[in-house]
This record gives sequence, structure tokens and C-alpha cells, in this order.
Amino acid sequence: MTLKGLVLSGGAGTRLRPITHTSAKQLVPVANKPVLFYGLEALRDAGVTDIGIVVGDTQDEIEAAVGDGSALGISATYIRQEAPLGLAHAVLTAEEFLGDSSFVMYLGDNLLRDGITALVDQFRRGECDALIQLQRVPDPESYGVAELDGDRVVRLVEKPAEPASDLALVGVYMFTPAIFDSAKAISPSARGELEITDAIQHLIDSGLRVDPHEVTGWWKDTGRLDDMLEANRLILDVLPARMDGEVRDSVIEGRVVLEEGARVIDSSVRGPAIIGAGAVVENAYIGPYSAISPGVTVRNAEVEHSILLADSRIEDLDARVESSLVGRGTTIRRGTERPRAYRFMVGDSSEIKLA
Ligand code: G1P
Repeated sequence: MTLKGLVLSGGAGTRLRPITHTSAKQLVPVANKPVLFYGLEALRDAGVTDIGIVVGDTQDEIEAAVGDGSALGISATYIRQEAPLGLAHAVLTAEEFLGDSSFVMYLGDNLLRDGITALVDQFRRGECDALIQLQRVPDPESYGVAELDGDRVVRLVEKPAEPASDLALVGVYMFTPAIFDSAKAISPSARGELEITDAIQHLIDSGLRVDPHEVTGWWKDTGRLDDMLEANRLILDVLPARMDGEVRDSVIEGRVVLEEGARVIDSSVRGPAIIGAGAVVENAYIGPYSAISPGVTVRNAEVEHSILLADSRIEDLDARVESSLVGRGTTIRRGTERPRAYRFMVGDSSEIKLA
């Protein structure tokens, strides 16, 4: 069975503002690699390489990052969704690309430790019309929620106020072309979107077979800062150490990736951590679970459990920077001007907490 891939990479990313004012949420890096790339690699590893990427306002940025997909071992086709009208609407937008092929739909901000090969293999056995992935979560009201009868899915509700179970719908689904009729049959939800959850319920109501697949390893939907930091921890925990950069008069402890062209001078780095190409760490401390992007400078400062995006600068601080996500080209430093004061030039929807 040839399967196509459909990766959803639109959406406003409102829960990650202000980063998403200027950047697609799917391109925020986890351990210095865009979230989206993990998904594309998971598809490739499952043998799915003909991939349509549904894009919205951030199309140019996504295209610049992924290109034709060849560097990732896939072939990418871009499909423009004119407005973010829901996941089922995205499927309909891609109808021409998908044709009569069955497909994997992958939400571009989802991350799964064990990839999707087991899911795709189960679907390839050809016993069902759709296959959904489920995982038990403590806050099912934030997700689509499934009710099972034995090993059959009987009911799906999108973000119910009173969930009937703690089984959340993971953002990777397998469909036959039967999903198109269901996506056309449903009406927009209260949030004004055509929900994929409702389209799958419609498959069930039409007498088609929807099977569950339980996710065993961890799964993260990286829509919020805390999720992003957790995903960063989970990936850094399994990243093998590598020392391609320059270390001078410094102490490196634990598992650290130092990319070529990165420089660590008079500093202490305690892994797991990654320091990108061309970054400079000087007279500084980089603590566990830090992802320092290419071109970043950390000087006379301490950073721990944080993600610093490309070309940002953290300098001359007394308190340690912790649990932070710092946007591209951002500078955080102690000023020398008088009078002594906090001076900010901060984007919309930013949050600053001072010790
Ligand atoms: C979407 C789906 C939801 C699913 C979640 C997984 O939610 O609507 O059913 O559980 O992805 O990431 P959204 O992220 O659009 O709120």
C-alpha cells in the first residue's frame, strides 16, 4: 500500500506568542532542531516520503526551512490553506494532492519519542478505515477525547468540559479516502473550525471501522512554553555527546553537544545541553537542559533549562536565566547608564519576570 503524508504546518500558534508573531510555531527548535523536522523524519522512517505540507500565513518561512525536502529524505509539496478553518478543512484543502491514496496526517507541532512506524505498520495490515493514536493524560479536557468499547473506538469528543475518559487523541492519524466524505458532512464547531475529531466520529456513525493505537513512549504537543521546555528536556536526555567546537579553560560535565565553530571560554557547562555553531559562551555557566542556538552569545551570565534562539545575547546578569524561551536576535543585558533602571524594548504579548 503506498501511503502519502499530510503534515499540518499552519495555525497561528497563539499560545507561543510573542515568538509566533514573527516565526512559525513548527519551526521553534527543540534541542536546536525545528519541531517540524522531527515529524518529517518520523514519516520518512516509517517509509512515507511523498508528503504534502499544509501551510498558512507562515508559508514562506516553512518553505525556506524545508525546501523540496531532499535534505530530510522526503519530497515536499506545499498546499496553501487560505484560512485556519480546522484540521478537517485542511484535509479537504489537500484532497487533490492526496487523490485516492490512504495517508498519515501529522500535526506539525507534535513530537513522539518512538516515531510512527508501529502505527503505520498496524494500518498497512488494512483492517480498518481509520486508525487513531491515544495516550492517557492528566488533562483530557485540553484534547480530543476517545471512549472505547473493548478495542473499538465508539465516541470521540473535541475538548469536552467533562471528559468521559482520560484517553487523549494524539496528533497523528491514519486515514483512507473515506475521510473526505465525512469532512464534507460535518459542520463547524463552537470555535468555528471543521474538527477532525468530528469527522472521525462521522466515520464511526457511518458504520466504518476506526481502530485505536496506544502510544507507549512519550508524546508532546508543543503548543505552549512549558511543553516546549519539556520536549527540549526529553530530547536532550537522549542526545549523544559530541565535541566539535572549541573549549578553553572550561569545565564540561555530563552529556554536551558542542557544534563546530562554537566556543566555550572560562566557563562551566553542565549537560545535558547543546551549544550551536558559532555560539560564544564566555565567563558563563550553561546548566542542564539548555539549548543554545547558533550565533548566540552568553557572557558573564548563567543560563539553565532554557531555549535561546539564534543570535540572541545574554550578558552581564547577576541572576541566573531559567525556564526561558528567548526569541531570535533578542538581547538581555545589564546596562551601565544612569539612572539605574529597567529599560525594555519588548514585543507584543511578551512576558518578563524579574528576580
Ligand atoms: C488538536 C486536535 C485535538 C488533538 C490535539 C493533539 O488540537 O483538535 O483533538 O488532541 O490536536 O495535539 P489543537 O492543538 O488544534 O487545539
